[in-house]
Amino acid sequence: MTPPPPAGAPAISLRPARPGDLPACAGVWHAGLSEYGVRVGRSPMPPTFGPLLGLLGHLLATDPDGFWVAVEDADPRPADAAAGPEGVVVAFISAIRREHVWFLSMLFVQPGHQERGLGRRLLSQVLEGTEDATHATCTDSVQPVSNALYSRLGMVPRVPVLELVGRLERPIPALPAGVRAVPFDLLRAGPTDGAGPVRLAAALERVDRGTLGYAHPEDHAFLGSQGRVGYLYEAGDGSVLGYGYASEVGRLGPIAVEDAMLMGPVVGHLVGSVRPVGAFSAWVPGSAGAAVATLLAGGLRLEDFPALVCWDRPFADFERYVPITLAVL
Ligand SMILES: CC(C)(COP(=O)(O)OP(=O)(O)OC[C@H]1O[C@@H](n2cnc3c(N)ncnc32)[C@H](O)[C@@H]1OP(=O)(O)O)[C@@H](O)C(=O)NCCC(=O)NCCS
Repeated sequence: MTPPPPAGAPAISLRPARPGDLPACAGVWHAGLSEYGVRVGRSPMPPTFGPLLGLLGHLLATDPDGFWVAVEDADPRPADAAAGPEGVVVAFISAIRREHVWFLSMLFVQPGHQERGLGRRLLSQVLEGTEDATHATCTDSVQPVSNALYSRLGMVPRVPVLELVGRLERPIPALPAGVRAVPFDLLRAGPTDGAGPVRLAAALERVDRGTLGYAHPEDHAFLGSQGRVGYLYEAGDGSVLGYGYASEVGRLGPIAVEDAMLMGPVVGHLVGSVRPVGAFSAWVPGSAGAAVATLLAGGLRLEDFPALVCWDRPFADFERYVPITLAVL
């Protein structure tokens, strides 16, 4: 049983997050991860929040109803009663609804406030009214608290996600004959009748529904704004076989393929298509075995402990889909 908060502890209220809360949320994220990361032997994390703030902004913009903060020392007479109390952010949650799938992107509680029921309280808040949805999340395999908390709600760890990091040191197989990679930019910049972008959007929607289980154009738009470079893979007759992204900062994914046999060659093409300023890095589900094997063969190495994808009902085919990050599939 979760122990009650210490006697005399300030009340903690929940309220919807606002854009101005995001730096404080990044601070809670850093404190929460650092505290237990050091306990399990990880190196301390540098406090650099640029990309994280961009991601939090995307989560808040695309599902404001799923983003809440817990604040301490709440002023009982807030300046704007409708907006809820001010106060110090001590925890936050972000869940994003994409069609029938509810995905818990982030839940972090400031050390000192953990294991007192706050995580469960925030979860109950954002789970309200989502009974019709499939529920999913990604966890850290070395964190028993989150894995236990989510498992009790049905989101049980089902598939490991391996972090692969490093530079390409050996050549790896490229695309088979007859498969071509068409840069998204070429389709976007195509004839002025707008056919290219429409065709691209339709292809992404269809491939996503067939692999991830739902379409998520808002996340593709975010990827474009983050400088990830996308390719559509086509057969000789123009039929779409999948898509994949890489970026100059070395991030690989998302990757989605109609046929699992193409996963290895598509990964091979992606790492050959960009020259990152540093190392490549990707979070790859263990069930996408061809992607794992291809990246290891190319010289990337397994890093850190695996993450785990958790769900209450199956929804995606992780043999054919590599996610964007652990916070947005
Ligand atoms: C994970 C985290 C968000 C959970 O929030 P929290 O406020 O600490 O959790 P709560 O107190 O609401 O709930 C924890 C539950 O796990 C249970 N629990 C803890 N350790 C457990 C274990 N080893 N086995 C089974 N249950 C366990 C607790 O008993 C409690 O269940 P209850 O509410 O039924 O009593 C928070 O601890 C945190 O931010 N940790 C650091 C960052 C982090 O790991 N984030 C998640 C990354 S995946």
